[in-house]
Amino acid sequence: MSNLENSMDLIEASRVEGADLRKAFGQFPTGVAIVSTRTSEGEDLGMTMSSFSSLSLTPPLVLFSIGQYANSLAKWQAADVYAINILSDDQHLLSERFALALSDKWAGVAFDRGHADVPILQETAACFVCKPFAQHESGDHMLFIAEIIHVAVNHEATPLIFCQGRYGEIQPRSKT
Ligand SMILES: Cc1cc2nc3c(=O)[nH]c(=O)nc-3n(C[C@H](O)[C@H](O)[C@H](O)COP(=O)(O)O)c2cc1C
Repeated sequence: MSNLENSMDLIEASRVEGADLRKAFGQFPTGVAIVSTRTSEGEDLGMTMSSFSSLSLTPPLVLFSIGQYANSLAKWQAADVYAINILSDDQHLLSERFALALSDKWAGVAFDRGHADVPILQETAACFVCKPFAQHESGDHMLFIAEIIHVAVNHEATPLIFCQGRYGEIQPRSKT
């Protein structure tokens, strides 16, 4: 049973269930990225991620994390390039597709190729092509820090939002 009540009373983290902690995390809206790579065996990988964040300007660094449970974790750890495809607000179906354990997530998906043949999704809000910078084991996730080598931004696009376990869109606050 939940002991994280609907109040701002602080509860000791060790007494909070995972599902409740996840709900608290969900109060922080994020964008949605599909991180992609092409392995040295020539396999294209892609995974939906909300754990993406900017980290540093000099050098230009970003971060994301992958669950230790992920089938493909070892392949991500060995990758020497990643593309971080920031989804635009009409790309939630791509987000759902790349969150499934499908054998061929890329079938029928429109993409180009970048540095080291990494797959780059079309019509996204932005894209960062990166090389590995550091990896840290962090609880039940592996933290990846990546250095940006190429960047593209689509100024016409607005980003897809993920918050409280649901997709949403930005609604700019009116000025009044
Ligand atoms: C909106 C959203 C955000 C997600 N964020 C992450 C994340 O940051 N890290 C992660 O490991 N999994 C995340 N997942 C789950 C992975 O996308 C999913 O486990 C993975 O793609 C399964 O594919 P695989 O079997 O090829 O590993 C997220 C899923 C969704 C729907």
